[in-house]
Amino acid sequence: MVKEFIAQSPEILPDTFESTWSSPSNIALVKYWGKKEGQIPANPSISFTLDHCATTTRVKFTRKETPGISFDLLFEGEPKPSFKPKIQQFIDRILPYMEFLEGYHLEIDTSNSFPHSSGIASSASGMSALALCLMSLEAALSGAEEDANFYKKASFLARLGSGSACRSLEGPLVSWGQHEHISGSSDLYGTPYRGQLHKTFLDYRDTILLVDKGQKQVSSTVGHGLMHGHPYAEARFEQAHRNLAELLEVLQNGDSRAFIRIVESEALTLHAMMMSSNPYFILMKPNTLEIINKVWDFREKTGSALCFTLDAGANVHLLYPGSEADEVMKFIEDELVDYCEQGQYICDRIGEGAKRR
Ligand code: DP6
Repeated sequence: MVKEFIAQSPEILPDTFESTWSSPSNIALVKYWGKKEGQIPANPSISFTLDHCATTTRVKFTRKETPGISFDLLFEGEPKPSFKPKIQQFIDRILPYMEFLEGYHLEIDTSNSFPHSSGIASSASGMSALALCLMSLEAALSGAEEDANFYKKASFLARLGSGSACRSLEGPLVSWGQHEHISGSSDLYGTPYRGQLHKTFLDYRDTILLVDKGQKQVSSTVGHGLMHGHPYAEARFEQAHRNLAELLEVLQNGDSRAFIRIVESEALTLHAMMMSSNPYFILMKPNTLEIINKVWDFREKTGSALCFTLDAGANVHLLYPGSEADEVMKFIEDELVDYCEQGQYICDRIGEGAKRR
């Protein structure tokens, strides 16, 4: 238990309360892969907060007499029983920090700005939006402001739902996990990047090429588990520390070649970890590799700062400065859409974080 985050339960609870938050997804530049008991990351990570790919969640709290967790879940207006276990687990984990929740029935109504069958994980945006709704009730009960402490606890709670969710509340970059060069960094919550940011990163784009829109072959929870006893785990965790240290400098000096080197290496290392785990997985598809090779050719020919990153799946995130948007979009349309399932991709950009609705 982390004492700092235990809420006092007030004597009298209001009969009803309602809160709505919209929270974006994020894309990691240095990847979180591997965790310890209690959702503690094995290494620090950092991500761009996205803008367009987001989850909007409304929670209606209604006072009830019998204590215990009670909630209904609607996804895009329809009951969604398959999402309930993950939410139940989340509420079980956060209950010691918000005991007053037992006094309420929760009606959770959630929807995504991106299609559910896009292969884009909604756990980061979904868990952070839900955590913020719960924090709004806590703030209303205690009369607290929506200040830095509000976001810190919301991030702490979101982490208990899904690790990467703790990086989805603020923008434009958030790190998570203790790192010697990031003051205030913690394994318990995300820390918004407060260093100098080179102007090139103020307008960065992420175009997500949907190579495989199917369900994930390996859930991230199972994937993280594969790092236990992995022969390369320790070296990987150290590498993440070094890559993050180097990336912090790049964020200030705008060195696009170094940025590309770190980000692409992180993506390939993540997949290398999966390929060398027991059991092993290949989460890329042939079209993922086709796209990577095309991106390398394009960069070679044009000197562009375009680079790719990957999550634990086959979709490719293309990262590039807004100043190159016209050329890169033309390249995508001319040469990459054929590798996307039904020619689909999603255009996103670096964003400012969650918003109250
Ligand atoms: C590959 O946050 O989805 O996207 O904590 O088990 O919910 P859980 O895992 P999750 O893992 C995300 C892994 C990643 C890399 C990253 O976002 O850093």
